[in-house]
Amino acid sequence: MKALVLSGGSGTRLRPFSYSMPKQLIPIANKPVLEHVLENIKALGVTEIGIIVGDRAPQIQAVIGDGSALGVRITYIPQEEPLGLAHCVAIARPFLGDDDFVMYLGDNMLPEGVGQIADEFTAGRPAAQVVVHKVSDPRAFGVAELDADGRVERLVEKPQEPKSDLALIGVYFFTPAIHRAVDAIEPSPRGELEITDAIQWLVTNGDEVKASEYEGYWKDTGRVEDVLECNRKLLDDLEPSTAGEVDATSTLIGTVVVEAGAKVVGSRIVGPAVIGAGTVVTDSHIGPHTSIGKDVVLTGTSIEYSIALDGATVSHVRGLRSSIIGRSASVGPSDQSPRHHRLVVGDHTRVEVAA
Ligand code: G1P
Repeated sequence: MKALVLSGGSGTRLRPFSYSMPKQLIPIANKPVLEHVLENIKALGVTEIGIIVGDRAPQIQAVIGDGSALGVRITYIPQEEPLGLAHCVAIARPFLGDDDFVMYLGDNMLPEGVGQIADEFTAGRPAAQVVVHKVSDPRAFGVAELDADGRVERLVEKPQEPKSDLALIGVYFFTPAIHRAVDAIEPSPRGELEITDAIQWLVTNGDEVKASEYEGYWKDTGRVEDVLECNRKLLDDLEPSTAGEVDATSTLIGTVVVEAGAKVVGSRIVGPAVIGAGTVVTDSHIGPHTSIGKDVVLTGTSIEYSIALDGATVSHVRGLRSSIIGRSASVGPSDQSPRHHRLVVGDHTRVEVAA
């Protein structure tokens, strides 16, 4: 089996971060979402992985490379325009050949893995096996209607009046039968070749399409709130380790990771929390549920339920909560007037202050 990971797309819901980085590289527990995805695929024993990339390809390649650091082999497949998930399958055809494959959306987190569902697919080899999850509002997703044996009777993309609460959650297993379906369908009203329509084509033409319910934690990391929530969830499973320096006046409580080259001075860190390599934390209070990236400088600051990306600086700010601080962003007192706030805030940025 091969894997096809979709990492094109513009990520408009994750602005301003997605202006400068592909959404698949947003760190969750200090590791890019895409790396979590690749690890899940490797756990299935699949090492031949094609990644569909758009205009952010160079950044993705710079982080993931040829995959050897993760023990997989990556082939990058450029997509000129985001023309739909089924279009991705079509352009990946030379890579996929006539192999079975798992298709995985590069911004979906399923930390419990899909090993059991992969085994069911390999044992039964239906034309397609989709992964579904019960959601409270299925209207934002592809929705599956099943018979009593878990066979898919109908799939509808983002229905106004969903007939079931089972959403497609971004992982699909296919035999090469999917290629006929992809060739047969037309673009949807939003102008995309929908994978949902291709799978529906298989159902209509009498091919077997099965669904398996994933009951673990699932998150499409499309919005800032989702990223923060997913970060909390993953930090809960952190293994503590202290490779960096923690001075005698600092306290670490609960599960804390201090990566090599990080320095913690006169501070209190409440886990779960991770402090990235090269970061310096002084006279600060961090956590719980906080990820601090690499080469961050935190001074006289308290921050909880948050993420600071690489190279950020935060000085003398108390009470930061549910925040994401971007790469090399700086938050702190004004040099010019101690009585005024001075903001240099990028496009589509959100600043919420305590009134
Ligand atoms: C896509 C699929 C949809 C699926 C969703 C999961 O939607 O078309 O069927 O439920 O991913 O995240 P999109 O994110 O492209 O709107």
